Amino acid sequence: MKKLLFIIAIGFFACNTPAEKKAETVKTEELVMYKSSEMALLMREMYIFNEKTKEKIIKNEELGEFPANFLNIHSAILTDPADRNSNFEAFSKGFITNQEAVFSASSKATKEQFNKMVNSCVACHKTTCIGPIPKIKKLLIP
Ligand code: HEC
Repeated sequence: MKKLLFIIAIGFFACNTPAEKKAETVKTEELVMYKSSEMALLMREMYIFNEKTKEKIIKNEELGEFPANFLNIHSAILTDPADRNSNFEAFSKGFITNQEAVFSASSKATKEQFNKMVNSCVACHKTTCIGPIPKIKKLLIP
C-alpha cells in the first residue's frame, strides 16, 4: 500500500500529467518507477526536505545544514537532457544560492528567505516543467 501511494504521488508530481492520464499512470506502476530520472529523484528529495524544513521554521526549530547533495542539480541526468541549457544553469544557481541562504539567514529573516527559495523553484518550473507548480507553491509559508 505504501508503495502504491508513492506511485500515485509520482503521477501527481510529474511534469505534464493531464488529469485523465493519471489512472493510466497508476496501472503502469513498475514502469514509472524504473523510468524516473536522476533529476526527478533529486527533485522529490528536495521537495520532501523542504516540506520538513517548512515545519521546522513554523515550529521555530533548529534547521540543521544545507544538504550538499542538492548541488547535484548541476549534474543530475534529466528525463530530457535538452532541458539543461544556459537558462537552466542560471535558474539552478539562483535556486542553490537561495536554498543555502535559508540556513545562514537570521532567525527573523528565515521565513522570508525560505519563501524566496520556493519562488526560485517555481521560476525554473515555469520554463521547464509546469506540472508540479501548484504542489510546490504549497511549500510557501503564509
Ligand atoms: C533549475 C530548474 C529547476 C529548479 C530550480 C527546480 N526544479 Fe523541480 N524540476 C525541474 C525539471 C526540469 C524537472 C523534471 C526532471 C526530470 O524529469 O528529469 C523537475 C521535476 C520536479 C518534480 C517532479 C519530480 C517527479 O516526480 O517527476 C518536483 C516535485 C519538483 N521538481 C519540485 C521542485 C522543488 C520543490 C524545487 C525547489 C526546492 C525545484 N523543483 C527546483 C526543474 C527545476
